[in-house]
Amino acid sequence: MKRIVILFSGEGSNMLRIIQKLEHYENIEVAATITNKQEAKGIEKIKAYNIPLNIINHKDYASREEFDQDLVNKISSYKPDLVVLAGFMRILTPVFTKNIKSINLHPSILPHFKGAKAIEQSYADIEKPAGISVHWVSEELDSGLVIAQKELTRIKDEPFESFKNRIHLLEYELLPETVVRLLQ
Ligand code: GAR
Repeated sequence: MKRIVILFSGEGSNMLRIIQKLEHYENIEVAATITNKQEAKGIEKIKAYNIPLNIINHKDYASREEFDQDLVNKISSYKPDLVVLAGFMRILTPVFTKNIKSINLHPSILPHFKGAKAIEQSYADIEKPAGISVHWVSEELDSGLVIAQKELTRIKDEPFESFKNRIHLLEYELLPETVVRLLQ
């Protein structure tokens, strides 16, 4: 049996897609989920499943390193084969990156548009490709080796909300698919 731990900070919609996909795979289980935000919308959604949820509020810590150490300890207690960052909005220190093997979902074709405003920036810059990436997490933000990417075909004069929704639809396919591919 392979085990994953999923980290999230907000809606948790990608986390749910992974959980739903893994219901079809008997040899991969979601051992736990962890959020750094007390008010994350995903918390209510995960309650419908029989999966442990941990809230480790980053605001309770004096430094990034102390937060990361507790996060590493909690993750390690589940002995996962892989950790999946699905909308986990934290800058991670080497305390995390040197100890945890993890992948991250990012809503752009990396190396374009790293950081927290990737969807807005790729919407605005029509000279560059738009899409999504799944990559290994390394010490430098959004810079680890890319595992999989999907490009979004641009539609002329598309409203931002529609562009953003199509980005999310790509994510819902690629992230669960990549998790399965890495663990099968
Ligand atoms: C996703 O669009 C993901 O690509 C993005 O956060 C969203 C999470 O949505 N991640 C990043 O921007 C990472 N830098 P969700 O909480 O509904 O899964």
